[in-house]
Amino acid sequence: MQFRILCKTLVVATLTVAASLGAMLSAGAWEREPLSVFHERRARLIRDTGGDGVVVLYGYRDADVAASVTSFRQNEQFYYLTGWNEPDAIMLLVPKAHPPGAEAELGKEILYIPAHDPSEEKWTGPKLSPDDSDATARTGFQTVHDTSQFATDLQAALKGASRVYTELSAQPESGEDYFQADMARNLRGIAPQAALADVRLPVAHMRAVKSPGEIVLIRRAVEASVDAHLAAMKAVKPGAWEYQIAALMQYTFEREGCEWPSYPPIVGSGFFSTVLHYDGNSRQMQDGEVVVMDVAGSYSGYTSDITRTLPVNGHFTPRQREIYEIVLGAQNAALEAAKPGMYMGRHGVKGLYEIAYDYINTHGKDLHGQPLGQYFIHGLSHPIGLNVHDPLDYNQELQPGMVITMEPGIYLPEEKLGVRIEDDILIVPNGIELLSRRLPRTVDEIEKLMSGK
Ligand code: GLY
Ligand code: MN
Ligand code: MN
Repeated sequence: MQFRILCKTLVVATLTVAASLGAMLSAGAWEREPLSVFHERRARLIRDTGGDGVVVLYGYRDADVAASVTSFRQNEQFYYLTGWNEPDAIMLLVPKAHPPGAEAELGKEILYIPAHDPSEEKWTGPKLSPDDSDATARTGFQTVHDTSQFATDLQAALKGASRVYTELSAQPESGEDYFQADMARNLRGIAPQAALADVRLPVAHMRAVKSPGEIVLIRRAVEASVDAHLAAMKAVKPGAWEYQIAALMQYTFEREGCEWPSYPPIVGSGFFSTVLHYDGNSRQMQDGEVVVMDVAGSYSGYTSDITRTLPVNGHFTPRQREIYEIVLGAQNAALEAAKPGMYMGRHGVKGLYEIAYDYINTHGKDLHGQPLGQYFIHGLSHPIGLNVHDPLDYNQELQPGMVITMEPGIYLPEEKLGVRIEDDILIVPNGIELLSRRLPRTVDEIEKLMSGK
């Protein structure tokens, strides 16, 4: 339980993003990294899997994302490798034939998309079709074919390979296992002779270290979400409803270009400040309580994840301040220690979790005189990226380019008092950059902002 991440789950160095990002559009529209970046990822995946099989990934269909109630959202693994954000697409990568021992190379890369459907386009707008003359230029794939050709092409590709790398397991907590099972069934139907292998781990390793373009998009998500929290700090007061604060925050980050929340907003006051997954947001806040706001937006597919805990009336009571400052002290201790070579989870002296836990367990007491470590009931960190809980091996060392949260908390139901402080950090060669540093964290800064001075 200790390491369950929260949802369902200072050395501040800076990293100069030197890469040319000129091909990315201005903030506000959906921004995508240059198509060459996605091509490079596909080539690397073939190298990393040793070229001993073809790779097939399916994008989501409208039906996979409950399209009648929400906009289309692409399968994150598929988006990471293609940059393609339309439903019903398939990717096929075929390695070049190579002698044993030689490095594997990408041979063919084919994107399958549906052909024009004029009656459907009256509802959903013009779509790229495989026979459009700009299909290659707009997708970055050497070849774009009609989806109906996929089965024939896969059979042909399997004359030189007997293995198909594909998604056989779902992103933990995504609730999408049915999708991988469905797609694997499709593949077994098309190519019963092929051995299926899971592509999740090699892609997870690639996704752990962010590209300069991904870091730009995460920064945009963080900045918009910081503004949402600043707006909330000015609006929280006794009598405000939790859903009003959630709505204000969502409005704020979406008007800055975020497409949707990174996860269901959590605004929990009073006793509900101690309930980790509370997303009812249906209570009226009372004088003298705290409110935990775990709310953040997603920008062009990239998430942020930020929590602040506020005194509803603008002033922490002495007990609220005491607990808040212990959580802040734990966060600062972990932030100071975070750098390449450390670990997010338990790892002796190199474990950031232990640093935060030990701080909490050696400061303050509960109402029965017991140490507070037992009330830190979730993990300290998780990576963010295309998923709010991005794939990563928790036993992997931190490396420059990783982006993770830092989110200690203490939850005391008996006192109706929960405090979580959650920030997003980029690992850089000498330490970290606190991406959400514009958002106040100390008691004094928060009280000042809430008083409007
Ligand atoms: N908001 C999800 C999490 O903190 O992990
Ligand atoms: Mn988190
Ligand atoms: Mn969170």
